[in-house]
Amino acid sequence: MDLMEKITSLAKRRGFVYPGSELYSGLGGTWDYGPLGVEMKNNIKKAWWKATVQERSEVAGLDSAIILSPKVWEASGHVSQFTDPMVDCKKCKKRYRADHLIEEIEKKKLPSRDEEVVEEHALAAHPEVVKDLNEKLRGVKCPNCGGDLTSVRQFNLMFKTYVGPVEDASSLAYLRPETAQGIFINFSNVLASSRQKIPFGIAQIGKAFRNEVTPGNFLFRSREFEQMELEFFVKPGSDKEWFNYWRKVRFDWFARHGIRQENLRLRDHEKDELSHYAKAATDVEYNFPFGGFKELEGIANRGDFDLGQHGQFSGRDLSYFDEQTKEKFVPYVIEPSVGVDRAFLAFFVDAYREEKAPAANKEEGETRVFLALDPKIAPVKLAILPLVKDEELIKVAKDLYQRYQSIWFVAYDEVASIGRRYRRQDEIGTPYCLTVDFETLKDNAVTLRDRDQMTQDRIKIEELDNYLMTKIC
Ligand code: GAP
Repeated sequence: MDLMEKITSLAKRRGFVYPGSELYSGLGGTWDYGPLGVEMKNNIKKAWWKATVQERSEVAGLDSAIILSPKVWEASGHVSQFTDPMVDCKKCKKRYRADHLIEEIEKKKLPSRDEEVVEEHALAAHPEVVKDLNEKLRGVKCPNCGGDLTSVRQFNLMFKTYVGPVEDASSLAYLRPETAQGIFINFSNVLASSRQKIPFGIAQIGKAFRNEVTPGNFLFRSREFEQMELEFFVKPGSDKEWFNYWRKVRFDWFARHGIRQENLRLRDHEKDELSHYAKAATDVEYNFPFGGFKELEGIANRGDFDLGQHGQFSGRDLSYFDEQTKEKFVPYVIEPSVGVDRAFLAFFVDAYREEKAPAANKEEGETRVFLALDPKIAPVKLAILPLVKDEELIKVAKDLYQRYQSIWFVAYDEVASIGRRYRRQDEIGTPYCLTVDFETLKDNAVTLRDRDQMTQDRIKIEELDNYLMTKIC
């Protein structure tokens, strides 16, 4: 089994992530989060919100609607520009994303190449890119049946729906392909209802939908996903400085939450891969097990594109008046934008460890599998285990379970040998296991086992709160 097979199998078996609509043979590019997955996903969102909104007085939160006026997407350029280049096989009708197909061909030609440097969006927005793709695909046959391919066509990624009972052009609407536009159209509202002054930001977490031509690589590219986006409004001229600031802050956030630095890097976009709205962009990339470094988060300098467009299309003035300098200007925007699901995948993959158990721990089995997740990200923070099924031990353990349930998501387990129970918790990344044994009844202390080191400390019950708070929070 390769690493991704192990990860997807563990994710399903232990209730992190299931294939979407599996009961009905699945629905491509959708995933369901199980009992542990939803906890871990919430922890990622909480950690982002804390660092981005809660700990910053200059950032305000927002939760805008998923379905916005279709005019929003005309103004933002998504109706005309949010396309992927695709080709169809004339014979078997299989559809490919043109740039992905070229990449596959190049990989086969150069098998040693382990890095993919492909921009994910708005590739086909540039006519010269389409021309280049057509040239690269000249003479290429369908990998599935050997049939001829059509020339490159643009395929809009937005899901369409209708608002109200009549399905016609007047009721056409889109599921948002990014949360950002909900922020831009509320710029004036937030400014008027809060005491923010530039520079300031508006942050939002929410679902986004893209009818991806080729979803794949587990959670990496799906059709329904969540984004955590910050639009940070700055004075034109200070944008470069703020762009560099957010590049560093966002890189450090991943490292601070347990992703190994050697698996992270920053990559600046070339001019020809920039999205239609961007003046500059950098990706925080993660070294995924499939094809190496790929985009984990995008940080873009969107200039005044969005507020300018919405000002023009709505006929409303979206400029900002600086009371101090008496200047009026349309703010520039720096946008760090990351997918929750893609971040989930990076945290999961990075934490996956296999280790030969030392002889002294034979009961733990030959190979120990554990998730070395940061306690803030781990779904279960603490497992409470009575050493054996004894009434008195169970009573103490259940009291402790009740106590910590009110603070964190914790587990209680009295089934199977203690070694097996440790292994079960290791596999889901529980940072600490607390064991109640017969000594506990005499010394009022418990054993606390550390997931990564497998060390065991004896801690007095009255000291547990302090000890755990410093380790877990
Ligand atoms: N508002 C800017 C924006 O949406 P993007 O680079 O298209 O920019 C931002 O998306 C982030 O959203 C990406 O870095 C990635 O983490 C996530 N993302 C984008 N498309 C995705 C997909 N199909 N599946 C999962 N995550 C996706």
